[in-house]
Amino acid sequence: MSNPVLDAIFSRSSVRAFTDQPLTNEQIAQLANAALAAPTAMNRQPYQLIAVKDKALILELEKATVEYFAAQNPEIAQRNASRGNKVFYNAPVAFFIAIDTEGAYNKFDCGIVAQNLAIAATGMGLGSVILGMPRGAFLGDRAEELRMRLEFPEGYEFGLCVAVGYPDGQPKDPHPLNPAKLTLIG
Ligand SMILES: Cc1cc2nc3c(=O)[nH]c(=O)nc-3n(C[C@H](O)[C@H](O)[C@H](O)COP(=O)(O)O)c2cc1C
Repeated sequence: MSNPVLDAIFSRSSVRAFTDQPLTNEQIAQLANAALAAPTAMNRQPYQLIAVKDKALILELEKATVEYFAAQNPEIAQRNASRGNKVFYNAPVAFFIAIDTEGAYNKFDCGIVAQNLAIAATGMGLGSVILGMPRGAFLGDRAEELRMRLEFPEGYEFGLCVAVGYPDGQPKDPHPLNPAKLTLIG
């Protein structure tokens, strides 16, 4: 019997090309609610979810990211260039997850929020990709300005981003499961 949650988990793969089709406000609200439903250690919710659908701002964040790595890390700069310097892959919406810099479990909480978004997107017939790369935008020359424009709360830093939209073309197959990653005891 099919199980919609397992179907979404097993069919998800990272999408790195999105069409220009925007998401509706209802879709964005549903994705955001899926993120807010994520469990966090002691339910502290040490994150701020920032949904950006301003295309010009997304492109500015992309440029700042590319410029940071071009100056700081030739290896990452090379990988970015191989992807056409498309950090957000033309996604109509980028969900930024800013996290409190204080707290032992905040990065785990952030990852779970990101995964909720990714699975929700698949379940809604959308594509997504979790992004760590945009951290460059918050490390470079424009860090403070971009932190303010994204309204990061005081004491918060970039955690992850999830780009969501309609896939341009057929998404790639999900990565193969690696049985060596499982230890079964008993
Ligand atoms: C924490 C994290 C950060 C990631 N950062 C990026 C990124 O900056 N750019 C990108 O294209 N993909 C990024 N990815 C996507 C991974 O490359 C991708 O999940 C992995 O290759 C497995 O492929 P799959 O998602 O299709 O299963 C990230 C994934 C995770 C979980």
